[in-house]
Parts: sequence; C-alpha cells; structure tokens
Amino acid sequence: MTAKQSSAGPAPTSAAGGDTASPAEAQDVILRVPNAEDGPALFDLIAACPPLDQNSRYCNLLQVSHFAETAVVAELDGEVVGSITGYLKPSDPETLFIWQVAVHEKARGRRLATRMMEAIVDREFCRDVRFMETTIEPENKASWRAFEKFAEARGAQSSQSLLFSRERHFAGTHNDEVLLRIGPFGRG
Ligand SMILES: CC(C)(COP(=O)(O)OP(=O)(O)OC[C@H]1O[C@@H](n2cnc3c(N)ncnc32)[C@H](O)[C@@H]1OP(=O)(O)O)[C@@H](O)C(=O)NCCC(=O)NCCS
Repeated sequence: MTAKQSSAGPAPTSAAGGDTASPAEAQDVILRVPNAEDGPALFDLIAACPPLDQNSRYCNLLQVSHFAETAVVAELDGEVVGSITGYLKPSDPETLFIWQVAVHEKARGRRLATRMMEAIVDREFCRDVRFMETTIEPENKASWRAFEKFAEARGAQSSQSLLFSRERHFAGTHNDEVLLRIGPFGRG
C-alpha cells in the first residue's frame, strides 16, 4: 500500500498493495493512511490498550496528520481496531521509529501488528528506511513477539539496549523502556 493510494480515503489492502495477510487474517480488515478525522478513534483505541501510555488528544492529532505517512490505522467493519504511530528519526531518516502499536482485543491474534509494520515500511514514502526502532517494556511479551516476527519476515538482525530507565528518566513512575533496533532490511 502506498501513501498515495490510501491517503485519499479507505482502500482495501491487497497483494499488490503490499499487505501479506492470508485470506483468514484479512477478514475485511482495511489498512490505510490515517488523517485528522481519525484522532478521536485513535485516542479511544489507545485507552483500550493497556499498558500503552495515553497521549493528549492534540498529540494524537499530530500523529495522524503531520506524521500520517509513518502511521497506519486498521479498520474492521468501519471501526478503527488497530494503529501504529511513528516517525522518521530527524537525525537518521533511514530509521523508522515506532511510537505505539495498538490492536484492540477483538482483533488480536491475526498478525495485524506485524502487518501494519510491513504496510508502513513498504510505502514509497519509506523507500530509504533500512532500520526500525521502538522501545518496549521488558515484560510486554506480545509486543516483543510482534516485532520479532517482523524481523524474521525481513531476515533482519536485531539488538537491544536500555534507552529510558525507570529511575533515571521516569522518576520511578514508569517501567524501563528497552530500545529494540531491527535491520538493516531491504524492501519487502
Ligand atoms: C502487542 C499487540 C499490538 C500485538 O497485536 P497482534 O495483532 O495480536 O499481534 P500479532 O498477531 O501480529 O503477533 C503477536 C504475537 O505475540 C504473541 N503473543 C500474544 N500475546 C502474547 C503473550 N501474552 N505472551 C507471549 N506471546 C504473546 C502471539 O502469539 C503472536 O505470536 P505468534 O504469531 O508467534 O503466535 C497487542 O497485543 C496490543 O495492542 N497490546 C496492548 C498494547 C501494547 O502493548 N502495544 C505494544 C507496545 S508499543
């Protein structure tokens, strides 16, 4: 799916569009570039997906407008059930930083998280992206596994290091956030 194809509105994913879903996984899920109208739905989805940090509504609006090309929403029966937000690192535009991944409970287990990652990376906008980074709390097994699956699918290596520490950066109020860096990888 290219940004151009989908930014005009919802467009079903397809083999030509870069989504690798099997028919069972796809089940009418539409992956598309978000827009500002998706802000409220993104806010509600994040609230329904602990342990994600809730962002301000304004922050969500920036994520789906200024950073729409590096974000994706997944729609099932007209409802936003999945999202990824991210950006190209200003100091390193070959690296896509994934901010948050959310899949509503009702849509989990169909590889949606991994497919959404692939959908962003496969866009023309991300043609120069060779690395993906994110931070994950050490005990978030589903998140570790979803990113591991992306790395496996791309045949890419990965490395981990502590980026933000509970004591030093969160004043003891938040778990450690471990940086996962995947790559280099090629186009899908
Ligand atoms: C993490 C999350 C996005 C995964 O969504 P998903 O679409 O179900 O993920 P996928 O289907 O692509 O893959 C998930 C993998 O994790 C595995 N998994 C799911 N729950 C798990 C758990 N509690 N322990 C270990 N593995 C788990 C799945 O079995 C699957 O691996 P498999 O295909 O090898 O069996 C979803 O669980 C979620 O939104 N969680 C809450 C928010 C969050 O933690 N986001 C990530 C941090 S940014």
